[in-house]
Amino acid sequence: MNVPDKMKAMVLTGHGGLDAYEWHEDWPVPQPGPRDVIIRVGACGLNNTDVNTRSGWYSKDVSEATTGGAYDSVGEEDPTWGGRPITFPRIQGADVVGIVVAVGAEADTGLIGRRVLVDGWVRDWSDPGNRDKTGYFGSECDGGFAEYTRADERNVAVVESELPDAALATFQCSYSTAEGMLARAQVGPDDTVLIPGASGGVGGALIQLAKRRGARVIAMASQAKHESVAAFGPDLLLPRNPGNLRAALGSETVTVVADVVGGAMWPRLIDVLERGGRYTCSGAIAGPMVELDLRTFYLRDLTFTGSTVIEQKVFHDVVGYIERGEVRPALAATYPLSELREAQAAFIEKRHTGNIVVMP
Ligand SMILES: NC(=O)c1ccc[n+]([C@@H]2O[C@H](COP(=O)([O-])OP(=O)(O)OC[C@H]3O[C@@H](n4cnc5c(N)ncnc54)[C@H](OP(=O)(O)O)[C@@H]3O)[C@@H](O)[C@H]2O)c1
Repeated sequence: MNVPDKMKAMVLTGHGGLDAYEWHEDWPVPQPGPRDVIIRVGACGLNNTDVNTRSGWYSKDVSEATTGGAYDSVGEEDPTWGGRPITFPRIQGADVVGIVVAVGAEADTGLIGRRVLVDGWVRDWSDPGNRDKTGYFGSECDGGFAEYTRADERNVAVVESELPDAALATFQCSYSTAEGMLARAQVGPDDTVLIPGASGGVGGALIQLAKRRGARVIAMASQAKHESVAAFGPDLLLPRNPGNLRAALGSETVTVVADVVGGAMWPRLIDVLERGGRYTCSGAIAGPMVELDLRTFYLRDLTFTGSTVIEQKVFHDVVGYIERGEVRPALAATYPLSELREAQAAFIEKRHTGNIVVMP
């Protein structure tokens, strides 16, 4: 296939506000390494990790909720999600769907012309099970906020689906994260799972994937989003912040809290867990600093599982769920790639349910 030398790309120039992004129309198209594929990006989903990396929120100097604004205290030497700094310029964008247009000398030529999803977890292929040797697509290497991107052939999966590119670009990061959380908490049919932030990318995925495992699901979301969240199929919907969570739950028995919100609400989430309950967490959008009464933790025999780097199997499982129609996308809006800043501003505003996608 014909691949040009230059492409349009939204390039992150350093930590900062939305003005840290620069639009380029003559950025070099990546060249494939021996096992790489070059993908013509059809669509790329937005994620909080783009916002957190851009703003520098992963720095230990930052203790507030994700606002999307810049932090004066954060510099280029500050670590990002993995505990190390990244280098700039960087093309972000983790949720890529696109067509393979070229392959490296040792990669499978049969991939050319196929539509693929990219696994966000970039592994060291000499030691693929080592979670300390992982990077994230669009963080430790360039991602999908461009017309073309590069990925190792072992990091892509052909996807057989009638869904359009924009809908497919809502899945990878959120659904892999959600499935990883539920797997670590060993969620099954005997569980009742409480999900704060249920209108978000991960929250909507958690509802569908917990239901898929046969669990009972209680979702928490802003009242204005209840109708759209109901479409994910929770058994019960509660407000984002019920004054008295225990009372709002009535006779419900919560065995698992699957959380990406944290913040001021957090102690109440822990308080409603049954004896032997599990708390599984992949995010802290309402704030990373929380107050824990250790007595609740040990006297109730609770188990806490953090979840970020997940096994490669999870991505392929999610692709299977998509192909078999076991999960449905929640596409809130699409923007042209050149309007990524506007798209990210809307994403940060959080008036939407599901995810927002940019298209080159
Ligand atoms: N560890 C990982 O690998 C991983 C992967 C993906 C995401 N994450 C993290 O998980 C968190 C959620 O991700 P997401 O993609 O689901 O986010 P999202 O799509 O932005 O949704 C977050 C939801 O949280 C709710 N919320 C409650 N309190 C909030 C507050 N103070 N500020 C903003 N939203 C609040 C909002 O719903 P209501 O308005 O309905 O309350 C919102 O829809 C982020 O911190 C993200 O960085 C981590």
